[in-house]
Amino acid sequence: SAAEKGGYSSFMAKEIDDQPQAVGDTLLGRTNEKGDLILDDLRIDEATLRTIDKIIVIACGTAAYAGHVAKYAIEHWCRIPVEVELAHEFRYRDPIVTSKTLVVAISQSGETMDTLMAVRHAQEQGAKVISIVNTHGSTIPRESDAVLYTHAGPEIAVASTKAFVSQITATYLLGLYLAQLRGNMFRDEIQAILTELRAMPAKLKEVLDRSEHVREVARSMADATSVLFLGRHVGYPIALEGALKLKELAYIHAEGFAAGELKHGPIALIEEGQPVIIIVPSPRGRDSLHAKVISNIQEVRARGAHTLVIAEDGDTDVEAFADEVFWVPQAPTLMSPLLTVLPLQVFAAELAGAKGLDIDQPRNLAKSVTVE
Ligand code: G6P
Repeated sequence: SAAEKGGYSSFMAKEIDDQPQAVGDTLLGRTNEKGDLILDDLRIDEATLRTIDKIIVIACGTAAYAGHVAKYAIEHWCRIPVEVELAHEFRYRDPIVTSKTLVVAISQSGETMDTLMAVRHAQEQGAKVISIVNTHGSTIPRESDAVLYTHAGPEIAVASTKAFVSQITATYLLGLYLAQLRGNMFRDEIQAILTELRAMPAKLKEVLDRSEHVREVARSMADATSVLFLGRHVGYPIALEGALKLKELAYIHAEGFAAGELKHGPIALIEEGQPVIIIVPSPRGRDSLHAKVISNIQEVRARGAHTLVIAEDGDTDVEAFADEVFWVPQAPTLMSPLLTVLPLQVFAAELAGAKGLDIDQPRNLAKSVTVE
């Protein structure tokens, strides 16, 4: 009903705007008086968690992209190898799972059958399972060894938005918790990252406050038949998620690529007028990825692409090659996915709206797929 939408035209529009709070709420109440992380719904004993030698994240759809983002953070912080796998692929390929494997199942609904079956399969092989779930009392957390609930609140629109940013946040808490437990990081480092995380809701709000420009551009592109997305490092799963949103909501062919792959194939797709959305890493990052992605923008622009660029405030290098820039506030690299995904959600929703489509209930899709 209109009341449930709180004055918004769709649940998705409301849920997009709910995201600063969803991230903030997911962070609430996770530390004790000393400031150490406590995950009180984590019921696996600490000795077991100290001995795990591999993490496998299993999920489907948008939740799997949250897992891809988590891999960058958890490997960096904990020095534990992290694999991310679609639940339906994991189960049928004879995966290497032992009692030292920690499986992290991510699911908004907690009812996705493919993910549930993968959880059971992992447990049969002796793995411990932590689930990151939004829906209390659902099946996946009931069957897991431990649960870390995201506190996004009910997500009604079929296409996931606030659950996604909450999932990233929860995986980060898990990564920091493991780093604390296993002694991978000093207390001060963990505290510093928690402080960065706690600064994110206000930055998400700032990105959303700038949405009007994204909406205008989206409306001008209602006739697009194909849109490509490029990202690198944590921007890569965000490119995949941006493409998924556009397929789901606007029924436009969309594909996300790792920017480094451009020359290995996708650049052949570029012709006059091809829209390409590029997520640019921070120029303050250490590893020259910024410069590499700037050259990618130049390469596609030189071949006629229409370039829409998501970049950090102050990144003047992008302006020469961007037809449009969607600016986001400065943030540490690992925090940036929480910001860069927002314009992509707004873009897809607005474009779908301009085409007169049902944003909350796209054709052929279900909110929760409870069959295999
Ligand atoms: C469906 C939904 C997606 C969602 C996926 C996983 O395909 O349409 O939006 O990402 O299921 O759902 P889950 O509830 O497990 O996160």
